[in-house]
Amino acid sequence: MKRHFAPSSSYYVECCNCCHYAITPLFHDSVQKIIVAPSILAADFSRLADEIRHVEKAGADWIHCDIMDGHFVDNISFGPAIVDLVRKNTKLPLDVHLMIEHADHYVPRFIKAGANSITVHVEREAKHDVGKTLSAIRDAGCRPGLTLNPATSFESVAPFLDNIDILLVMTVHPGFGGQSFRPEMMEKVKRARDWKTKTNAKLDIAVDGGINADTARLSIQNGANVLVAGTSIFQSKDYAEAIRELRGIK
Ligand code: DX5
Ligand code: ZN
Repeated sequence: MKRHFAPSSSYYVECCNCCHYAITPLFHDSVQKIIVAPSILAADFSRLADEIRHVEKAGADWIHCDIMDGHFVDNISFGPAIVDLVRKNTKLPLDVHLMIEHADHYVPRFIKAGANSITVHVEREAKHDVGKTLSAIRDAGCRPGLTLNPATSFESVAPFLDNIDILLVMTVHPGFGGQSFRPEMMEKVKRARDWKTKTNAKLDIAVDGGINADTARLSIQNGANVLVAGTSIFQSKDYAEAIRELRGIK
């Protein structure tokens, strides 16, 4: 089975022979859209509204909001008020990544601010009942996601796979943008892809940290369909070109 990147779209095709890049919704079972989710952590906050409009125009699919509390991770970013501001400046889905303790306590505020998906951490240090938090997110009409740090094994998320819409595989230790991608995390992406194939689930498999054109290609090859990227988009001169490159389009 070979995967080919379509030359002028955000889709790739799986085929047995040499295919003709026949991109059509009729093939939706074998064609998967690559979702690009720019992380605004790397944006210029002095003109955040412009940055969001710019990245939307450049072809972003989701906007990724990194929430850090200075406890679960060694950094502080922003809270629901900024997510609310982002919501007012885009129609794109807002993908909120909570790197905080007691996520269950804060989930309703992020839903009120306009989150479409909320991803929480599985580690014990996140200090919440993971199953209950995921149910609370879904019950509020939001897509639940679960994530794991580089040091956390795939086994720790396995019991929750049936109850989530997004598995976010951290490819750096969370807390800061601009770190180097850890290729050994691809093992977890493959495990998620194998589970998804076996169960025919609709799970989105996301990677987050150090994603650029090269590491995006590797991640997609291993089964990821969502690319979270901060530095490689917001530090580029041409956001549209950076997003196309992440999708594997030259
Ligand atoms: C890391 C965050 C990431 C980060 C990605 O803690 O979860 O979303 O902003 O940034 P880059 O793409 O710069 O690694
Ligand atoms: Zn993130």
